[in-house]
Amino acid sequence: MSEKKYIRIGLIGTGLMGRIHTNGYKRLADFFPEYEHRPVLQAACSRRKEKVEAFAEQWGYKSVETDWRKLLERDDIDAVDICTPNDMHAEIAIAAAKAGKMILCEKPLARTVEEAKKMVDAIEEAGVQNTVWYNYRRIPAVTLAKQIVASGKLGKIFHYRANFLQDWTISPDLPQGGDALWRLDAEAAGSGVTGDLLAHCVDTAMWINGGIKDVSAMTETFIKERVHQGTGEKKEVTIDDACIFHCHFDNGSLGLFEATRYARGHKALYTFEINGEHASIRWDLHDLTRLEYFDHDDEGQVRGWRSIHVTDGDHPYMDRWWIPGTSIGYEHSFIHQVADFFKSLDEGTECHPTFKDAFETQKVCEAVINSANEKAWKDTGVEWTEK
Ligand SMILES: NC(=O)c1ccc[n+]([C@@H]2O[C@H](COP(=O)([O-])OP(=O)(O)OC[C@H]3O[C@@H](n4cnc5c(N)ncnc54)[C@H](O)[C@@H]3O)[C@@H](O)[C@H]2O)c1
Repeated sequence: MSEKKYIRIGLIGTGLMGRIHTNGYKRLADFFPEYEHRPVLQAACSRRKEKVEAFAEQWGYKSVETDWRKLLERDDIDAVDICTPNDMHAEIAIAAAKAGKMILCEKPLARTVEEAKKMVDAIEEAGVQNTVWYNYRRIPAVTLAKQIVASGKLGKIFHYRANFLQDWTISPDLPQGGDALWRLDAEAAGSGVTGDLLAHCVDTAMWINGGIKDVSAMTETFIKERVHQGTGEKKEVTIDDACIFHCHFDNGSLGLFEATRYARGHKALYTFEINGEHASIRWDLHDLTRLEYFDHDDEGQVRGWRSIHVTDGDHPYMDRWWIPGTSIGYEHSFIHQVADFFKSLDEGTECHPTFKDAFETQKVCEAVINSANEKAWKDTGVEWTEK
């Protein structure tokens, strides 16, 4: 057996993403056994002692911290995984880079372009390995979509269309801010659906279809005031509840994006469709192992949309899992991101999306919010290079 190099993980934030990333670390050795680098669940950190101790016991962390600064001071931590609300990403990442730790940071990279730029500068100065958890790239059907577009099968791309629809904030009685509801507080989240949902759509879109040049957007805040969990006072809601924008891509195609938390009946309906000169593809998170494909070159009488079940051994990542025809799920996109991060350590390469890539997505999100506020087209300033 080859000698393993162990990377000791310090996880900060033990909510939804803390659990799903940990699942990824725990699966790596079973499904990617040949990788030289391996994670060790060294320490978990969140604010309340009893809660973080219970988390550590359940998920198998060796130790706990309740102050993230203490975690960064420790010599026995090699990589920091940031799974906290968005307002903490910049402060933790900059301090972690200064401490020489590798960084895996949740999305969106930051609340603003200004914060994101400081984070990019910090990791570049420190020269530490980094990645941002835009995990949808690593759903096999989405990776296959990227490969099909890159192969040229679609020809010239005309349209890129994406939606991310939810319905969990419709009740006016839902408070804002604090545990579990920080997404409704612009101070903590930076923005509403733009940073939370559209950031995913933008990352996938630019990865598959190239840079977004300019945007024209509108946003709406349907519920204007909500009680803040922290103070118990009614406070103005300053996040975008819904956002629609259209855009030009660098390759000349047109983009149309929509995200909302007010689409009754939809829980997490992320879909995209790409229309090219010769062919089209579409994908839907609710049926995530399938990729729909239409090829105009097919024989006329049998021409139509085909539904590719992306579970064969020659599909992206699928040689690691069960047998052809059996599905994998949402959590596997995170396992794949863990695997690609550790592979990048084996190979001495970058693990995309890096902070720099996520900085470009941040530029689009900020241009979208500015466009909506000012009712004007905005250049994004994106500098996208093929990865
Ligand atoms: N990649 C994805 O698909 C995806 C999905 C959901 C969330 N996210 C991102 O992940 C991040 C976390 O989201 P979540 O849904 O896991 O949130 P969550 O509310 O479930 O968990 C947040 C965690 O951060 C902890 N925390 C808050 N303040 C802290 C502090 N000062 N010190 C230590 N811990 C602290 C909380 O105790 C909690 O454990 C956000 O940036 C979010 O945008 C990404």
